[in-house]
Amino acid sequence: MRALGAAALGFLLVLLQTRFGVRHPRALGVVAAALMGAIEQLLALAAEGALQGRPLVTLGAESPINLGATFAMLGVAVLIPWSPVWSAFASLLVIGEYVAAAVITGRATGPPFDDKLMLFASAGVVAVVITAVLEQRRWREFFQTWALAAAHREAREREKRYRSVVETAGSVIIVLGPAGSITEFNREAERVLGWPQAAVVGRDLLTSFVAEGSRATVATDIGKALAGEPTGAFEARMLARDGSERVMACGTRRLVDDDGRAVGVVLCAQDISDRKQAEDARLALERRLGEAQKLESLGVLAGGIAHDFNNLLVSVLGNASLALGELPPGAPTRQSVQRIEHAARRGSELTRQLLAYAGKGTVALARVDVNALIAETSDLLHVSTANRAVMTYDLTPNLPAVEADPTQIRQVLMNLVINASEAIGDADGTITVRTGVVELGADTLRDTQHAPEATPGPHVCIEVCDTGCGIDAATAARVFDPFFSTKFTGRGLGLATVLGVVRGHRGALALTSTPGSGTTVRIYLPSAGAPARGEPRPAPAAPPAGEGREGRTVLLVDDEEDVRVVTAHMLERLGCSVLQAGDGREGVQVFREHARMIDAVIVDLTLPRLSGDRVFREIRTIRPDARVILMTGYDDEKASGALAEAGLAGFLRKPFSVGDLEKALGEVAREGD
Ligand SMILES: Nc1ncnc2c1ncn2[C@@H]1O[C@H](COP(=O)(O)OP(=O)(O)OP(=O)(O)O)[C@@H](O)[C@H]1O
Ligand SMILES: [Mg+2]
Repeated sequence: MRALGAAALGFLLVLLQTRFGVRHPRALGVVAAALMGAIEQLLALAAEGALQGRPLVTLGAESPINLGATFAMLGVAVLIPWSPVWSAFASLLVIGEYVAAAVITGRATGPPFDDKLMLFASAGVVAVVITAVLEQRRWREFFQTWALAAAHREAREREKRYRSVVETAGSVIIVLGPAGSITEFNREAERVLGWPQAAVVGRDLLTSFVAEGSRATVATDIGKALAGEPTGAFEARMLARDGSERVMACGTRRLVDDDGRAVGVVLCAQDISDRKQAEDARLALERRLGEAQKLESLGVLAGGIAHDFNNLLVSVLGNASLALGELPPGAPTRQSVQRIEHAARRGSELTRQLLAYAGKGTVALARVDVNALIAETSDLLHVSTANRAVMTYDLTPNLPAVEADPTQIRQVLMNLVINASEAIGDADGTITVRTGVVELGADTLRDTQHAPEATPGPHVCIEVCDTGCGIDAATAARVFDPFFSTKFTGRGLGLATVLGVVRGHRGALALTSTPGSGTTVRIYLPSAGAPARGEPRPAPAAPPAGEGREGRTVLLVDDEEDVRVVTAHMLERLGCSVLQAGDGREGVQVFREHARMIDAVIVDLTLPRLSGDRVFREIRTIRPDARVILMTGYDDEKASGALAEAGLAGFLRKPFSVGDLEKALGEVAREGD
């Protein structure tokens, strides 16, 4: 019987697992309890009747098997997940069935009934208590599960938020494990470096994605971050998938677990390549602007110096040559005066170099074959290298011509070769002069010192390469500054002049040097097309001295009295009569008054009231065949073409000696004859 009860409880357990049981546990519990209680009563009545030979309905309520009803109450209390109220309801049902059975059989009185009722009531109370305890436990579990689910949900949300912050951040975020391998790689990192996350996770950041030159810095900063010292704003070059390098501003922070142990590093970086490029371009522009301003102001300064200094030199050189003419051949002072003359010429050379640096020197352009020019100059170059250095030439044949001033290019070669030989000093060494044609790209051009008008394209390259002492970076930054020299004897105008000449020729210049190994200077001159046919214009042959100037009248126009005095003196020495004027207007006036008798006019280019070229033009309107020589402190023959076409007889460059003056007048005389 008890087995039957246990089976019934088992069946109840199974039913509880079915969909019906899950949906209606209370109905199941009530029905099960009531049914079991009823069955118990019926079985008890039946058993009672059978044992004692009495009618079944009279003795059931007294059967000891009625105890099974207790199990029914306790069983459902334990098995059915319901509240104590339902447990009490089920117990009351079972007790009710018992009482009903007892009343029906007329046994609802006496101690057995009372005892059993008490037993059932106690079982009911116990069932209610059990249900209450179980329910409390269920609630607790429910709350625990609830809290756990909420915590999970929140963790999931947080993870989602974190992901979206990492993914939408405008920064490259790379998370590394403690050994430096990548564990996370955000979308911005994918965009900037071009690698998908799947391809990089697990790979070593340093060796795979950091450019060699930046590895040490990045490694140091990761190390610092791991040691708990966050870093920021260091620059590193990272490798993109397409092989390009991106410049990144990086920072590192360590990641720690709950125990405070470092479990990795977060590298946060910004792609600053474009900004950096723009910054570099801006700096280059500023540098060029600064350079242009420097040249501009130096040009003004040099122009001023040239003017005043040359006028002084006219006086010095003129007086020296006059004095020389008056000294007898064996006079002991002759040598001193010759030295004065020599020093004055060197002084004028200095101003010319300054003018060349400022881009104001002559550019008497001709089609020049650079190879031929080097070959012509080789003797001079050889003499300039007074030490043990060996000169070698590596000249590419059939070079295209360049439009250049051969004198200035010669000067450039000399300056470079002298620098090279001085860098080699007394040691053994080689100086190589090389020529070639190069297609100068925009990038290469940007890395050179070049004229503002220089453009990419075919250039003739002249290279002077030495195996001398080389130049360190700090010195290299200053070598083109005028008067910068590391030499005791140097003046520091050599490279400044070279640069000025190159700029004047719309060319470019690149200097590379390794301290201790040597220096290479490359000069790029824009190619003028087909190989040069014409040679540099030969200097006009000097006319025989003293030809046709005796008894001539010369009008001399200059605002500097010293210049006028000495020049007049020199002209008189040459046998000329001299008329003088102190400014342009006066010059024209004097010419107008004496136009018939004046054979030649020597006029300074820079004059107050009316400039030299205007004086020339006015004089030509008075007398179209007037012979005018223009005196100038600058090598400013830019206007020479136009003036020569207009009939200018010649130029006289200040300072000049009696011989130079004689030569200029001689040419005028020749033309006139
Ligand atoms: N080929 C070279 N090797 C090593 N250093 C050089 C070389 N060329 C130039 N320099 C350095 O650059 C400086 C400037 O050169 P630059 O030719 O302008 O002046 P300088 O040679 O000192 O004097 P100057 O040429 O006026 O007599 C030199 O003093 C020297 O330190
Ligand atoms: Mg030099």
